[in-house]
Amino acid sequence: MQSNLQGKTSPTPLHVGIIMDGNGRWGERRGLTRTEGHHAGVDAVRRVMMAAPGLNIDTLTMFAFSSDNWKRPKPEVDGMMKLIEHYMAMEAQPFADAGVRLTVIGRRDRLPRSTVAAIEKIEAITASGTMLNARLAIDYSGRHALLAAAARAFWNGPVTADSLSQALATGSGYRDIDLLIRTSGEQRLSDFLLWESAYAELWFTRTLWPDFTGEELADAVQAFRNRNRRFGGLPGVAPSAAPQLQVTT
Ligand code: FPP
Repeated sequence: MQSNLQGKTSPTPLHVGIIMDGNGRWGERRGLTRTEGHHAGVDAVRRVMMAAPGLNIDTLTMFAFSSDNWKRPKPEVDGMMKLIEHYMAMEAQPFADAGVRLTVIGRRDRLPRSTVAAIEKIEAITASGTMLNARLAIDYSGRHALLAAAARAFWNGPVTADSLSQALATGSGYRDIDLLIRTSGEQRLSDFLLWESAYAELWFTRTLWPDFTGEELADAVQAFRNRNRRFGGLPGVAPSAAPQLQVTT
């Protein structure tokens, strides 16, 4: 497992997770449809991805479609899938040019074939990007990811924190979340990156996602830098032991 152990003082690049919430309300407040709110949300995704490398964020994982979102009305779900496909097609070359590597985490077996094809295409086109590891969570459930990883880890030998993290790793590797942001005033995890967020610093804002800017991302990172991350230890005291989590069956 990797994590940013110092928080306040370390120049270690950060892994930031974002639960992008409030698209629907943003649309409704303007007399627009919820789907139009999602379209406006894409502009905020672009702003945040462009701002991230300058804030020493090297990995950004953003919740674009939760496994729970299948419960939404079909027109909204269909609209989101089409939007994701359009986004993948439009952003592939600009991302490749900007050195952004885009990968997708989550299940692919329930996505429309055209969505999977769009995902595979952007992943291939942006594979060599080194400026930013951008990950979109689509049909993602933290609980499902944990169950699948636990089963894989079990078949490979003793289940430890490291072996579970290994089993959770995707094509873009494994990283603990350093800073977890949620917009729109809600303060919940909603099944996002449960294992990876075990020591995440949480930051909430009332801003609806389509209004979120690079400046607000910078505020969140600044707040993170001022936090004192102790991981259960004491400030200034070297840990006497680092017990390895392990279960025996
Ligand atoms: C929550 O808003 C947001 C989502 C369910 C998905 C986030 C999706 C996007 C930002 C657009 C798609 C992204 C890409 C990269 C193609 P909500 O609908 O729950 O809003 P509400 O809480 O106001 O109802």
